[in-house]
Amino acid sequence: MRPHSRLLQRPPHEDPHRASAPPLYLSATYRLSDPEGSEGGFDYARSGNPTRAELEARLADLEGAARALSFASGLAALRCLLGSLPARPRVVASADLYGGSLRLLGDAVENRDFDLVLGRDEEELEQALRGGADLLLVESPGNPGLGILDLRRLARTARDAGALFAVDASLMSPWLMKPLELGAEVVLHSATKFLGGHADLTAGVLAVANEALGERLARRQNAEGNALAPFDAWLLMRGLDTLGLRVERQQESATEVTRALVGEMRSPHFRVFHPSLASHPGGEVHARQARGPGSLISLKFRSPPQARRFLEALEIFALTVSFGSVRSTASLPAAMSHASVPQDLRRGSRAEAGLLRLSIGLEDPRDLIDALRRADATLRDERSARGSTP
Ligand SMILES: Cc1ncc(COP(=O)(O)O)c(C=O)c1O
Repeated sequence: MRPHSRLLQRPPHEDPHRASAPPLYLSATYRLSDPEGSEGGFDYARSGNPTRAELEARLADLEGAARALSFASGLAALRCLLGSLPARPRVVASADLYGGSLRLLGDAVENRDFDLVLGRDEEELEQALRGGADLLLVESPGNPGLGILDLRRLARTARDAGALFAVDASLMSPWLMKPLELGAEVVLHSATKFLGGHADLTAGVLAVANEALGERLARRQNAEGNALAPFDAWLLMRGLDTLGLRVERQQESATEVTRALVGEMRSPHFRVFHPSLASHPGGEVHARQARGPGSLISLKFRSPPQARRFLEALEIFALTVSFGSVRSTASLPAAMSHASVPQDLRRGSRAEAGLLRLSIGLEDPRDLIDALRRADATLRDERSARGSTP
């Protein structure tokens, strides 16, 4: 079955009442015929719920995973993964991680829960892995700098070092990248982004290649009680139905917007980063490991105040944290998603002041280009006003 059909038809939807759309089971408890039994497979909603089970089966199919688990947020998923490591583990991670992930790792280091080494590129990560590690955690493209890492190469190094290899693929979604096929053992998603797609829920996913690891994580999830609630699981499934259409259209629009930004409206005020550009660092590696450039664009302004003024003048794009929604958004990660990252963990991050992240939604790209052109014109006007001031 082809991907768009498979997204809607696999695994086959089964329901005792023959409902044709996924039903929402809110019940916290399930009737047992005897104290030991749970013949329907469910007894208590923290441990399992039919709506969540249907979602997780669909997510596992999408990722090509042995098992997928859904959590209350992306960070809850990461927390569960970190908690499943052996005592006082050594973690190696890419420096261009989402700010909240860096903060979580930083807190764990401060509490002496584990050792952490950050690497900015494959060489630094490999160097760190030579000292042995329990987990290698990376993002590619990174958030927000869109830095690319060679995932096949890192999978080999992690295997040789005996480290579990986990990839946070929130920026791509499984529609564009399937890290398990590239050698990763765990995929992490903030499903708050493209999987949900409508900025109306927070959710996280762990998908794993190995059934035994899946079972270990599921036991921990049950013990910690951070699984996704039934309503959010149902809403997330509804988002999944249109994942392919949304992601492909948003990506096409982002490529069109990028083309305009570097072409007809080339601005002296910022540099444009999008993996569709031939000049994008690591672009060739990205093309080998993903099915497209995605729909996030980073603009690196010459000065941070310029980025702020551009943002103030920018219409249509809502100023919000997060990304991946059907509506276009803009953010200044250094002041927003990465503001709480401890300084020493920010060194290798590309969330510098002056970096503006755009998430392209489903609006007509011509309207988005017009809005960007108008915002840039306000900066040009300022320059010429300054130039003409005696
Ligand atoms: C790449 C990435 N990973 C993980 C997270 C954390 O996910 P959540 O906000 O759903 O906890 C985010 C959130 O922005 C993210 O951008």
